[in-house]
Amino acid sequence: KDEPLVLGIETSCDETGVGVVRGHTLLADAVASSVDEHARFGGVVPEIASRAHLEAMIPTVERALREAGVSPRDLDGIAVTAGPGLAGALLVGVSAAKAYAYALGKPLYGVNHLASHICVDQLEHGALPEPTMALLVSGGHSSLLLAPDITTDVRPLGSTIDDAAGEAFDKVARVLQLGFPGGPVIDRYAREGDPRAIAFPRGLTGPRDAPYDFSFSGLKTAVARWIEARRAAGEEVPVADVAASFQEAVTDVLTRKAVRACAEQGVDHLMIGGGVAANTRLRAMAEERCRRAGIILRVPRPKLCTDNGAMVAALGAEMVARGRAASDWELPADSSLPV
Ligand code: KG4
Ligand code: ZN
Repeated sequence: KDEPLVLGIETSCDETGVGVVRGHTLLADAVASSVDEHARFGGVVPEIASRAHLEAMIPTVERALREAGVSPRDLDGIAVTAGPGLAGALLVGVSAAKAYAYALGKPLYGVNHLASHICVDQLEHGALPEPTMALLVSGGHSSLLLAPDITTDVRPLGSTIDDAAGEAFDKVARVLQLGFPGGPVIDRYAREGDPRAIAFPRGLTGPRDAPYDFSFSGLKTAVARWIEARRAAGEEVPVADVAASFQEAVTDVLTRKAVRACAEQGVDHLMIGGGVAANTRLRAMAEERCRRAGIILRVPRPKLCTDNGAMVAALGAEMVARGRAASDWELPADSSLPV
């Protein structure tokens, strides 16, 4: 096989992810998460994340290589998330990748976290058409990106001006006292609720608003106020209805803007990635709206949507396949790396 064999390391947030791919084929996807250690703080604590990465790194690399059944000597490259993300967390991954690449005599590829969230879909659905439109929604980002070339040219069309979509899920879950991370719990409660029970606001959807930007902090506040009013009146909070109505507002805006971007930019493929892409309502609504608009929708399985090392390996393999230049040993961990 002459498809590139690449190991990828991801440490931008709270998961230590190590993946191995051969071209578009997933061979291993090992993830060690410190999410439980952050849960009692209601959000990711950078110091805890960095330390957890340090402890998990070597065992996770070894597990991925074992799972893939490959020898590190056969690798064509080591890819690593260079940013954006938590500075200390990124630094652990970048340092480890440099050490492995140097010791094994392999080229090092620093990649962008957002681009790799898009590229991972090649492991699910094969080669990405170019240009691809991508909606990336997670706890740290909510962006619409146009990718004429996934290895060199990913253009941000718009992003959130306040909270990320996943952050809104987490904050609303906190108000509802459902724990952290909030997305999966709200998703579960919403299935039992009525999405039309409460008309929560759709941010930035007016005719004069930026067409590709998002805003979720007003929605979060509206939900919190609604719940407070209920509690103040001594009434029970209908958790399932609140969850469903909130989730409906978020997914309505995300899919509406993504479909509109495809139509206006003349792109007939939409990929959705990031942790929030695991949301069942988002997937269903996107499917329906894309079908009506004649857009082909690509959403990887949930495990590939959340942060993982396979997505980094997938983009690294694409860089090797296209003969892109490797990074040098000075490769910095850049917490605000632009796409
Ligand atoms: O991509 P990810 O694992 O990490 C970041 O880069 O942020 O995304 C985590 C975010 C969290 O905010 C979590 O609440 C959200 O994704 N999330 C979901 C679901 N699963 C995870 N949000 C909505 N519905 C879900 N099923
Ligand atoms: Zn991410």
